[in-house]
Amino acid sequence: MKLARQYFYDRGEPQRQRFVSLRPSYHGSTLGALGLTGYEPLERPYEDLITPSVKVPSPDFYRFKETDIPAHVEAVLLQTEAAMAAQPEGSIVAFVLEPVGGASTGARMLNKRYVEGIRALCDRFGCLLIMDEVLSGIGRTGEWFAWQHWGVCPDILVLAKGMGAGYYPIAGIMAKGDIVDPVQNQGGFMHGHTYAGNPLACATGLAVIRAMQDEGVVANVREQGAYLRQQLDALKTRYDFIGDVRGIGFLQGVELVQSQDTKAPFPAAFNAFSKITEIARDKGLLIYPRRCLNGVEGDHFLVTPPLNTTPAEIDEMMLLLDQALTEFGQLLS
Ligand SMILES: Cc1ncc(COP(=O)(O)O)c(C=O)c1O
Repeated sequence: MKLARQYFYDRGEPQRQRFVSLRPSYHGSTLGALGLTGYEPLERPYEDLITPSVKVPSPDFYRFKETDIPAHVEAVLLQTEAAMAAQPEGSIVAFVLEPVGGASTGARMLNKRYVEGIRALCDRFGCLLIMDEVLSGIGRTGEWFAWQHWGVCPDILVLAKGMGAGYYPIAGIMAKGDIVDPVQNQGGFMHGHTYAGNPLACATGLAVIRAMQDEGVVANVREQGAYLRQQLDALKTRYDFIGDVRGIGFLQGVELVQSQDTKAPFPAAFNAFSKITEIARDKGLLIYPRRCLNGVEGDHFLVTPPLNTTPAEIDEMMLLLDQALTEFGQLLS
């Protein structure tokens, strides 16, 4: 957010100070990132402290109301355009999105037309496109970066978790040269942290990337991600309370509903998302639960195994998940 803002500041456009992002979404818990985040329970205690972004609806390929997905995407793009046009002229710094959703949506997907539409809106309103790949980047989706699935390159890319194989704390931002150069020419990025550029973290990050290249890890995610997805889809045919399976590669989300017909979420107080997680944990399987409808209702869990997971390990995971789902189903009868 600061790099995008400084880029415009250094270019003589200091009036650009607004960000646009999706609801629901998750971008982090600092006051800045929370301003972008669309997840009501996380925002509520800090409402009066954060500078909220302009929130626009995230496409929803499961609960869309229009005739089909293409019509839904056009409707969402129109709403987005209207929200951006309602801002004072030249006031938007950047549009920020997760190219594949994470914790707050249960791996909600975008599509090529949507991302191309957002890119076109950014160009029209003169703002940057920032993609948050903290979760989806570094191989998780079967490409090094999730944006590659849509073929639309962001101006600024945010990375973290996978850079340290999920174990070592390292994060980074990548930006196009024509954003970096003007900032460098004006004295450099006015930003820093005590541990920025930490040599041990950087060495770890390089080692992770090298090991991933040497061991063909991204290809493994692509191949085994398809297998994992097949298995999850098969579970959906057997459990009526699995409403949706979505995502790509090893970033898969499973949404729980009262029935596939109605798509009605469980009552929020039932806490289906934590119940299924506890049952799975007792069996030795870790899944990642959250609420998918703005954090206030809707239950999903993420299935995001290590990137070098083998087919036999997927089978073992699916066996445990199957048992957990059966036990969860017994709570409903
Ligand atoms: C998409 C996304 N963006 C940002 C973050 C926040 O990263 P951090 O906790 O390192 O600030 C997360 C963390 O879960 C995330 O999933």
